[in-house]
Amino acid sequence: MKQIYLDNAATSYPKPDTVPQAMVRYIQQVGAPLNRSGYRSAQEAELTTLSLRERIKRFFNFPEKANHVVLTPGNTYSINYVLKGYLHPGDHVIVSAMEHNAVMRPLLQMEGVSFDRLHADEEGFVNPKELTGLIRNNTRLIIMAHGSNVSGSVQDAKQIGNIAAAHGIPFVLDGAQTAGHYPVDYEDLALSALCIPAHKGLLGPGGIGALLLSDEFARKLTPLVAGGTGSVSDSELLPAYLPDRFESGTMNLPGIYGWEAAMAFVEAQGVKALRVHETELTGRFIEGLSTVQNVRLCGPKDIESRVGVISLDFLNKDNGAMAYELEQQFGILTRSGLHCAPSAHKSLGTFPRGTVRFSLGYANTKEDVDTALEAIEKLSRLP
Ligand SMILES: Cc1ncc(COP(=O)(O)O)c(C=O)c1O
Repeated sequence: MKQIYLDNAATSYPKPDTVPQAMVRYIQQVGAPLNRSGYRSAQEAELTTLSLRERIKRFFNFPEKANHVVLTPGNTYSINYVLKGYLHPGDHVIVSAMEHNAVMRPLLQMEGVSFDRLHADEEGFVNPKELTGLIRNNTRLIIMAHGSNVSGSVQDAKQIGNIAAAHGIPFVLDGAQTAGHYPVDYEDLALSALCIPAHKGLLGPGGIGALLLSDEFARKLTPLVAGGTGSVSDSELLPAYLPDRFESGTMNLPGIYGWEAAMAFVEAQGVKALRVHETELTGRFIEGLSTVQNVRLCGPKDIESRVGVISLDFLNKDNGAMAYELEQQFGILTRSGLHCAPSAHKSLGTFPRGTVRFSLGYANTKEDVDTALEAIEKLSRLP
């Protein structure tokens, strides 16, 4: 049976061929460290890393220099670097009710830091107008998932950014579900920082991500990890400049090579074209669902304000069992459960039963969508 991969919100698959090729080439033919040595292959590694930072800078219309693109071990790390490096006891934070545990768990670990959640409706949208009512004298940060990994809803980050800016509060976006799927314009959204993973819509490998930092915000951030950077080796203090200040230890060079190749691919496609393709498939999927009985779409029908993360609740059935049957009977790979976002399910009315999540990527086709619809239809009719 042919496999149909519909779990791109967890991690994208397949990657463009150039991604594993670049990683293997690094391991077999380059093998040099970054920022440590001066021989030719080390210089090549340096240039590839710079090229990655520059591609990321261009892709997100990031107005700072490429050295403000800090490479991290992944999106969760980027978020932890922000929360734990910036907040202090007594600070207040505003999040949305749609957050992933990558935001909620570090926040709840931080003693003395309080937070409020911006309410989300049953499609997973917050109302930016309600933000002002949550702002307090000690509100130091607004951090939010741009796109929900449960409902696919995309928040009006522009309006939120404007309100944050009007109150002088840094606004940080978790771009896990929009980066590579939906336009994210750093400057236009008035961001202070953007957290992104390589391995989802940007089609890179796991274990690497980035934290794009505005200079003003970077100056207020304490590095969580300290160690050797290969630079300023006469000092036992961390360098003051970026990216070294936030990049201690030997970097993930296979990941850098793979992500650089992936960014070349997504840059060549352009986020607009990637979005047009995924939106077309999302529209086809949602339209096809309209005739299926006993299955609820847990997210917006409007394709303009969402990404291709489609959560379904099979009414009167066990969603985990449905995901199992989708693979067993139809070769369709999905994810069931709460998707690391319990509060999002409370907003959508699917807590604690969770949903079956179908998430689309650049490599999916209309045929994949039609096969999924037929499978959903058949499973919905099971007694
Ligand atoms: C909205 C959201 N935020 C954060 C994360 C964490 O990203 P990662 O697991 O790549 O660190 C995810 C991953 O699914 C996510 O969907």
